[in-house]
Amino acid sequence: MTSIVRDQWYVAAYGREIGRDLFSRTICGESILFWRTEAGRVTAMSDRCVHRRFPLSQAPSHLDGDRVVCGYHGFTYGADGVCVAVPGQTRVPRTARLRSYPVVEQDSFVWVFIGDPDKAGATRIPRAPWLDQEGWTTVSGMEPLKARASLLVDNLMDLSHETYLHGGYIGTPEVADTPITTEVDDEAGIVYVSRHMDDAECPPFYAKSTGIEGRITRWQDIEFTPPCLYKLHSRVAPVGVLPHEDGTDPDAFHVEVVYAITPETERSTHDFWAVARDFALDDESVSDFLRESNRTVVLQDVTALDVLEEVLTGEPDGYQELSINIDTGGLAARRMIARLAEQASGAPAAAAVPAGR
Ligand code: FES
Ligand SMILES: [Fe+2]
Repeated sequence: MTSIVRDQWYVAAYGREIGRDLFSRTICGESILFWRTEAGRVTAMSDRCVHRRFPLSQAPSHLDGDRVVCGYHGFTYGADGVCVAVPGQTRVPRTARLRSYPVVEQDSFVWVFIGDPDKAGATRIPRAPWLDQEGWTTVSGMEPLKARASLLVDNLMDLSHETYLHGGYIGTPEVADTPITTEVDDEAGIVYVSRHMDDAECPPFYAKSTGIEGRITRWQDIEFTPPCLYKLHSRVAPVGVLPHEDGTDPDAFHVEVVYAITPETERSTHDFWAVARDFALDDESVSDFLRESNRTVVLQDVTALDVLEEVLTGEPDGYQELSINIDTGGLAARRMIARLAEQASGAPAAAAVPAGR
């Protein structure tokens, strides 16, 4: 039984992490080797030599042009994972090839397809264009989470926790006090959760970065494309300042907070986070402030979720949760993830939705 949804694209890395050094990361339980060809294309293949399983990311394994040479006995593989040379004989066994993965570089991320590669072409990769677009400045990072991905989904779908877990950074009383609206677009595979605060305290995260003094109109519009990409469209403006009728919104500050939620294993997750803004584009001090603040906020979540994972792991199955209105987005996301898991090939996916739901 697995909670990991296969036949999906997942963010494996930022493009900047992958160059001419051999780079390994475990995605959905699979150890994957990444490197860039001399032409700059990212490759993704199994990080286990077919001979005796030596990790190809491990020195003295190395790149030789567009070939990777195993550091144990010298099996040599091309960028497609096919073995092209073995030691001591000219004949290369026909089955000597590394599993290779469909890979796409987009919006500053390296996406990898986990599951049946024949399904990759027909499976959507959600977009986060601001992360790599003129007119926006982005800070980003990744924190390892020792908790199952579903706990991070729950966390991000219910921002009322900002008031309690992130007070003094992004949380103010209005976040928890303002009701949400939830919408599900099954066809597009998206869950939307909105919270519009008309007259709210400005948390330090926005006061310091935008320079707004006094109270604000604060909109939080979540758009989650399960299983991996979460976007929070955040709009901040002085109280009463609204978008123009034609849809333009020149007097507000816009922040796109993007998370990629990538399972590392059943019980650990790569927590990719990025904050893109459309103001103070060249102001390094704003970038530094947002990077530090957001990382602190992410680590507050990581600490809480690591504890929660330990608690849940130690409890018998079938524990009962109690859900309220703030949980409607999280529950909708769980249902969508459970459905994706049912449709996927391979192991029947388990309970993305715990018993009692
Ligand atoms: S383990 Fe790689 S060549 Fe032997
Ligand atoms: Fe949080």
